[in-house]
Amino acid sequence: MARRKKAESRPAAKKSARKVVRLKAKKPPQAANGTPRPSSKPWGQAGRALEGVRVLDFTHVQSGPTCTQLLAFMGADVIKVERPGIGDITRGQLRDVRSADSLYFTMLNGSKRSITIDSKNPKGKEVLDRLVKKCDVLVENFAPGALDRMGLTFEHIHKLNPRMIVASVKGFGPGPYEDCKVYENVAQCAGGSASTTGFRDGPPLVTGAQIGDSGTGLHLALGIVSALYQRTRTGRGQKVLCAMQDGVLNLARVKLRDQQRLKHGPLTEYSQYGEGIPFGAATPRAGNDSGGGQPGWILKCKGWESDPDAYIYFITQAPVWGAICDLIGKPEWKTDPDYATPPARLPRLRKIFDTIEQWTVTKTKFEVMVICNKHDIPVGPILSMKELAEEPSLRATGTVVEVDHPTRGPYLTVGNPIKLSDSPPDVRRSPLLGEHTDEILRKVLGCSDKEIAGIKAAGALSAPEKKAEAA
Ligand code: COA
Repeated sequence: MARRKKAESRPAAKKSARKVVRLKAKKPPQAANGTPRPSSKPWGQAGRALEGVRVLDFTHVQSGPTCTQLLAFMGADVIKVERPGIGDITRGQLRDVRSADSLYFTMLNGSKRSITIDSKNPKGKEVLDRLVKKCDVLVENFAPGALDRMGLTFEHIHKLNPRMIVASVKGFGPGPYEDCKVYENVAQCAGGSASTTGFRDGPPLVTGAQIGDSGTGLHLALGIVSALYQRTRTGRGQKVLCAMQDGVLNLARVKLRDQQRLKHGPLTEYSQYGEGIPFGAATPRAGNDSGGGQPGWILKCKGWESDPDAYIYFITQAPVWGAICDLIGKPEWKTDPDYATPPARLPRLRKIFDTIEQWTVTKTKFEVMVICNKHDIPVGPILSMKELAEEPSLRATGTVVEVDHPTRGPYLTVGNPIKLSDSPPDVRRSPLLGEHTDEILRKVLGCSDKEIAGIKAAGALSAPEKKAEAA
């Protein structure tokens, strides 16, 4: 400000202009490390995190769509390429409303645009090649080899667009199983989750959380943004591969930790240790034991006889042991050598949790939570999907969002679980099949009406049955 005053005070306009130019030139356009100077725009008004990134989305079912939906929430323009007439198979799976896209589809494909292209039609292939040139990322989760069979090998894509990042979900990485088709529960079993989930005396169990599909989609999204960041230095794209087996194993990493600990003795925090049951060769199923070093268990609360979710997870964290003893009416346990220290308690966990349950069962799970939180005792009510859908705080944060849909009406979806302070999430309804076909051809590829008519006439955008009828 002071500098400008000095320049303005000069009598000769020409001289002052020269001075201003010199001062402007002195100001570097970027910070010293090459990044732009901090935006002066208010928080949340400087665009979205992935604005300007265009994604060619060949994903289907769940794993891939989860990934591209996250990218769309972050502001990327996600163009979902679907098979004419059918689209993503999930549009018609587990339908709850006749003739409307299923919730399976709508909740995994929000904020995207849809174009239908027959990737096996020569003109369709041409359109895809043109889209490859206009996009930054291609994401797919076809069975192994399907993308290559479409002619979209990495070499072909990279020749057309060296900046393209080609991201894939596969069931297994390179190795004996690489050609296998894989769904969620196959991955949970192959990734070590099922063998470590369930009760010791029961069979392996799969979890309700979709760690194989959505978990791998999440891993892939991180791979993609990392590759985008690396591209700012190298100028070139790369392949990103997430195998579902690897993703599940990554999420079950603590169980591989326990596998190695077994060599050095029993796993003392597992309740089977306290019960005197010997360990076998592999990490066992641990029921509801806490995964960390603080013993925990699921306990009944008031109403459990009729409400399947009237339970609470209760952790006997060592620093609050005294408070727990007072709450449950066992103050003598604070000094009793059998209960006073964590190692002394380990062989008695069953008795301890049974005693705590005699207290929790007299209260609702929410009452237990309020009381325990006052004493810093970590507890977690078992929340049903109904309770989560109705929870006001999740609506307020945008974690649960209601969106409207032209054929099915309003539905709930999970918004962006990742909150960025300068990038408001973009959560919109899922597209109808081929809703944006013309718009994408016109605006992204710059096609004229005549050209679009030619592409359509060649059968590149319609289902093969229709083509047969027309012939
Ligand atoms: N136009 C024409 N054909 C198309 C098309 C389009 N727009 N989009 C897809 N197709 C074709 C593909 O070319 C392929 O045909 P091909 O086998 O003749 O080459 C076929 O549709 C799709 O193949 P595929 O991926 O094998 O589907 P699928 O229903 O048989 O198998 C999975 C589904 C999920 C098992 C399999 O895709 C898979 O293992 N994916 C990797 C792992 C994964 O993501 N699993 C989790 C899913 S939630």
